[in-house]
Amino acid sequence: MRRRLLAPALLLLATALGCTEAGTAAPAPGPAALPATEPEVRPLGRIIPLPASVRPGGAPYTLTAATRIGVPDHPGVRAVAERLAARLRPATGFRLPVVTDPAADLVLRLDPAAGALGDEGYELRSAPGRLTLTARTPAGLFRGVQTVRQQLPAAVERDTAQRRAWKIAGGTVTDVPRFPYRGAMLDVARHFFTVEEVKAYIDRIALYKYNALHLHLTDDQGWRIAIGSRPKLTEVGAATEVGGGPGGFYTQEQYKELVRYAAAAHIEVIPEIDLPGHTHAALVSYPELTCDGKALKPYTGIEVGFSTLCAGKEETYAFADDVLREIAALTPGRYVHIGGDEAKSTSPADYRTMTDRIQPLVTRHGKQVMAWHQLTGDATPAPGALIQYWGLDRTTAEEKEKVAEAARAGAGIVVSPADRAYLDMKYDEDTPLGLRWAGTVSVERSYDWDPATYLPGVPRSAVRGVEAPLWTETLSTPEHLDTMAFPRLPGLAELGWSPAAGRDWSTYKVRLGEQAHRWDALGLSWYRSPEVPWPAAAEPPA
Ligand code: ACM
Repeated sequence: MRRRLLAPALLLLATALGCTEAGTAAPAPGPAALPATEPEVRPLGRIIPLPASVRPGGAPYTLTAATRIGVPDHPGVRAVAERLAARLRPATGFRLPVVTDPAADLVLRLDPAAGALGDEGYELRSAPGRLTLTARTPAGLFRGVQTVRQQLPAAVERDTAQRRAWKIAGGTVTDVPRFPYRGAMLDVARHFFTVEEVKAYIDRIALYKYNALHLHLTDDQGWRIAIGSRPKLTEVGAATEVGGGPGGFYTQEQYKELVRYAAAAHIEVIPEIDLPGHTHAALVSYPELTCDGKALKPYTGIEVGFSTLCAGKEETYAFADDVLREIAALTPGRYVHIGGDEAKSTSPADYRTMTDRIQPLVTRHGKQVMAWHQLTGDATPAPGALIQYWGLDRTTAEEKEKVAEAARAGAGIVVSPADRAYLDMKYDEDTPLGLRWAGTVSVERSYDWDPATYLPGVPRSAVRGVEAPLWTETLSTPEHLDTMAFPRLPGLAELGWSPAAGRDWSTYKVRLGEQAHRWDALGLSWYRSPEVPWPAAAEPPA
């Protein structure tokens, strides 16, 4: 009884907190203070990532059994519309035909002249009888569709028919991303994840408007991508993983399938072949790559920094050329990530020799170099390289300055500080999964920083965006991935997408708490962090 009386008041408070200007929020409710059920109409813009501009107004749009989705005669737009319809059909039970009729009530339209919307922006107009999504590109429409999903009740994510009204609050959302690069990284080397499991992770990141999936495909414990000219990499090097499990790898067809699946969500796949360190699985597969040519035993522990390719052997460069040629040919995206981190067994001179010879191979095969920021230390990034910073607050000023120098010389910077953005760090001392070498990373800590100003001396124009890496030394199941990614993954998406001025932890944590309805509907194994006011009845699955 008490809860029924309390709920409407809290609902009003939660709605008031939806104002997006920093500094205007009322005090946030404490944990477990949100209503147990969602409002019938979610206030416009109460989504993640927070939209750039929200003008609520007018009565809601209602999705009905008669709704038709109107598209122009354009295959890219039709694909986005079909995906939206497929998402909405099971829960609504509606037919939702996709038609080339501009008089349809739910319309996806391209406006090539809408320059302000850029490559991924969109405008959503919601009014009785008509919902219009406009973008300059199909990618923009796809991002807008994620807003449509999040504006609808979370029950829309369920796979069985739900009896309820499907309304979207009236008004206009005009939304463009702050940064062009919003990545998520998945380590499929320490533990292998199947094609279906990676697809499920792509679905999760797509909902939060990520646009890059960085696949860490090779490491000491396993090699996960078939290379036709080097068959032993998978015959031998894929048969292990951390803890002694069976490992696995993607055939080239399976990798291409992942690339296609990501592309349908307008997500670019960035393959990482980690060189010259983190190469033990390759060295086990081809002992002639080691400096002394001796056979090595597979490694299934979690130490780092003990393996290296041999700078003085021509075989090293023939190997790198074979691998990079094949991976470039399989990858339609712009980048190949060549790692470069933790080459602790490589001398600085050898590191420079190898990176000086390996980077041009990437370019020769038509791709741009992406690498961890050690490439700015003992080496020189290739022109156009994208440098991924993964240091910590305690990283030396000298190391950070090398990154800033590279940025001033033209490198793009992706920011993924290990003590902020690494999703595999424990939330707190009691988190059973994950590691803690970068410290514990609470939900607030992962959210409350700014990629644009994080690295001193890096020009704002050099910061391309943010990435949320998920390393899997301790994570071996999809449920483990979910537990570490949720609730932190959406916050890093917001850092990459939303204007800094609208971001504020005290209002964000309320929007985040509301997402729990959606995660439950999607069946995610999320972590109920005590920092966040979750809905009273939204228990994670046991
Ligand atoms: C890294 O965490 N070694 C990039």
